[in-house]
Amino acid sequence: MAANAAVAVFDSGIGGLSVLRELQALLPNESFLYVADGGHCPYGDKTPAFIRERLARVAQFFRGQGAKALVLACNTATVAAAADLRERYPGWPLVAMEPAVKPAASATRNGVVGVLATTGTLQSARFAALLDRFATDVKVLTQPCPGLVELIETGDLHSPALCALLDCYLQPLLAAGCDTLILGCTHYPFLRPLLAQRVPPEVVLIDTGAAVARQAQRLLGQFGLLSDTASAPVRYWTSGDREQFAQVLGRLGFAPGEVASLPV
Ligand code: DGL
Repeated sequence: MAANAAVAVFDSGIGGLSVLRELQALLPNESFLYVADGGHCPYGDKTPAFIRERLARVAQFFRGQGAKALVLACNTATVAAAADLRERYPGWPLVAMEPAVKPAASATRNGVVGVLATTGTLQSARFAALLDRFATDVKVLTQPCPGLVELIETGDLHSPALCALLDCYLQPLLAAGCDTLILGCTHYPFLRPLLAQRVPPEVVLIDTGAAVARQAQRLLGQFGLLSDTASAPVRYWTSGDREQFAQVLGRLGFAPGEVASLPV
C-alpha cells in the first residue's frame, strides 16, 4: 500500500461523518473515501450475519479503490464485523469503534453512567466484555434507541419527532441520575446541540470520534503509511439516495463532494 493512498471510512449512513470530521482535523494531509450503506441503514436492528456480509462486500470495494486503511466509523458494524475483517485482511490497518465505557468509568463522579447506542451494539458480546473489563465498579444503564438513526439520517436535527424520541430515551437515564452519558453510536454526536438543551450542564457527554482519529494516526504511523502530500477532496459513495446524502453533507457543514452510487 502507498502512503499517499486514501483512507477508507465506513458507516451505515451519515454517522461516520462525525468521525470523518475528527479525522480531517487531525490528519489534514490524508485523503478519504467514504461509504454510507444508506440502502441498508439502520444497522441497529440487522443480524450480525447480515452486517458481516455487507462489510465483506464493502471492504472488497474499498480495496479495489486502493484504500490503504479502513476506519470502521460505526459501532454496530464493529461489534458484528471487525473480527471477521481483521481475519480476512491481516495486513490492512483497521481502526474500529466502540462505546467509550473506559473513559466514562473514569469520568463519572457519582458512579452512574448511561449509554445510548443501537440495539445491536448493546446486545453484543463485545459490549458485554467491555463492561466486564472496565465498568465493574460503576453502575451502567443502557438505553437502546430504535428509530433515532432514521430521523438523524434525514439531516433535520431539530425536528419535533427527533426531539420527542430523544426525550423519551433520555428520561430514564436522567431520572436514574447519570452524570456521564456515552454516545455509543456515531450518529449521536450530531445530537450534541439538542442534548445540551436537555441534560443538566454537569452531565458529561462522551463520544469516541477524536480518540478514533488519534488511533488512526498511530496505526498509520506504525505501518509507515502517513501521507506527506496534500489531501484530495473526499469521494463519497452511498447505497441509498445520492441526492439526499449530498444535501445532508451540506447541512452538516461538509464541503460539497462527488457522491456516487455504491456498486456493491
Ligand atoms: N452509526 C452507527 C453506529 O455507530 C450505526 C447506526 C445504525 O445504522 O443503526 O452504531
